[in-house]
Amino acid sequence: MTNKSSNMTNSRTNLSSWKQLTDHATRMKTQHMNDLFAVDDHRFEKLSVKLPALLFDYSKNLIDDDTLATLFTLARDCNVEQWREKMFTGERINTTEDRAVLHVALRNRKQKPMMLDGHNVTEDVEAALAKMEKFTEQVRSGSWLGYTGKSITDIVSIGIGGSNLGPQMVTEALKAYGAKASGNALTMHYVSNVDGSQIADVLAAVNPETTLFVISSKTFTTSETMTNAKTAEKWLLAATKDKAAIANHFVAVSSNIEKVTAFGIDEANIFEMWDWVGGRFSLWSTIGLPIALYLGFEQFIELLEGANESDEHFLNAPLEQNVPVILALLSVWNCTFLGAQSQALLPYDQSLHMLSAYMQQAEMESNGKSVSIDGERIDYPTVPTIWGEVGINGQHAFYQYLHQGNNIVPADFIGSITPVTAVDGHHDTLMSNFFAQTQALMRGMSEAQIRTELTSKGIEQAVIDKIAPHKVHLGNRPSNTLLMDKITPHSIGALIAHYEHKIFIQGVLLNICSFDQWGVELGKGLASNIHQELLSTESNKQHDSSTQGLVQFYQKSKLSK
Ligand code: F6P
Repeated sequence: MTNKSSNMTNSRTNLSSWKQLTDHATRMKTQHMNDLFAVDDHRFEKLSVKLPALLFDYSKNLIDDDTLATLFTLARDCNVEQWREKMFTGERINTTEDRAVLHVALRNRKQKPMMLDGHNVTEDVEAALAKMEKFTEQVRSGSWLGYTGKSITDIVSIGIGGSNLGPQMVTEALKAYGAKASGNALTMHYVSNVDGSQIADVLAAVNPETTLFVISSKTFTTSETMTNAKTAEKWLLAATKDKAAIANHFVAVSSNIEKVTAFGIDEANIFEMWDWVGGRFSLWSTIGLPIALYLGFEQFIELLEGANESDEHFLNAPLEQNVPVILALLSVWNCTFLGAQSQALLPYDQSLHMLSAYMQQAEMESNGKSVSIDGERIDYPTVPTIWGEVGINGQHAFYQYLHQGNNIVPADFIGSITPVTAVDGHHDTLMSNFFAQTQALMRGMSEAQIRTELTSKGIEQAVIDKIAPHKVHLGNRPSNTLLMDKITPHSIGALIAHYEHKIFIQGVLLNICSFDQWGVELGKGLASNIHQELLSTESNKQHDSSTQGLVQFYQKSKLSK
């Protein structure tokens, strides 16, 4: 980044802390973390935070005392504490949609009053939870019956984006708890894609007499979800020949009661959500119904309690000890100031295999923007591309790029001390890799070290000259380590909530409205027009020649089949 002031009134680049960080970044780029560790024996103690069930180590970042001091000044210059307060007090911080952002009210386990426009939303949340609890127990105990009087064996959750990723990711992460939960005989299925093969596969595997569909859509207008829901309804009616069966087999989660009833779902079977819950922050709401069905209501509450613990930490810890705030500052430091363009999420736990897909929506739909909250075009890099994979598999796929690629990719390593499923010897093997990778990324290996090593192995000088440059690892690649005690509903709740708050603060630092998603609308609108065209033989002359050529080719080829 160049250290230029912007003509834009509210550009972050006009802040003196921003300018200092820009200059400081130029200096830090000449430093190596190895030297920062060498001069400070206490770097780990200084640059880590220990919470009851999480150790957060951020010492392997290219930062020194000045970096941190200036980053915290930036946080204060950007009014991070005030924004945090605004969120918890129900201010309409989703300014472009004129909505409050109160997902923290969904896991307010001490049931403190949380006010929105003079109304205590905690009461609404508790009522919705009570309804979920009753329903969950009916289904899980077998007393909720299908149209032929049989208990439910399969749940098919239909939804997309925030109405799918959270429930599915958590169900996967907590599979061991779902399987162990007493009374659970339910098999979960998730359908998000409008590609018919997904729902066809699911429907082929379930029995209409014993299947319950949960249609999750905040708006109840999302075309993929509506298309899948109609296919599911048709499939059920083909078996039951009686519309009355819909009441036994369909429930909906939505804030659009009118649309749900128009679809034909009984009002009694609607689990309400509210416009102050953003889709990508909604797994704690009734959108979490599939989680509660799978884990049981008690364990769903444990998930909320974990998130609530993180909310309390975020709200009360000083910025210098605040995990989400530090995660956000480091992301902005690494990406906006040091120029990293992507960030990897690397869980060393098979159960977290959907975490990066979930976080892609959470971070990129929130902060993948180039206009400030004041409506001005942003003149600095905003969020990176979020990507990742279960770490140990990634080691045998893309870690080459992380270690020796020309782009620096800051990475979050997520692991746990105690495995959920202990198989003799496996966990220490896994975790030795977890620790080794952050060390290798940070330390690297110089050409001199490589030459010494190869020489000590008796390798010929000509061979050493040839391969030594290829074996150089420059190191100095930043990573955070998040080490949990164990994956449990509580710790997963806390982990996700930490990241939610990180994303919020990242948005504040970048001066972005994190809670809208206008960027998904254009494509949706165009797809709806093209869909009409695909259903008729008329061609739309408004298209550019590429789109027109493609659509016509598709139409002609389809007709010739
Ligand atoms: O992709 C856009 C989006 O609106 C997401 O923000 C949301 O999570 C998803 O679609 C699903 O929306 P809905 O719950 O209204 O079906």
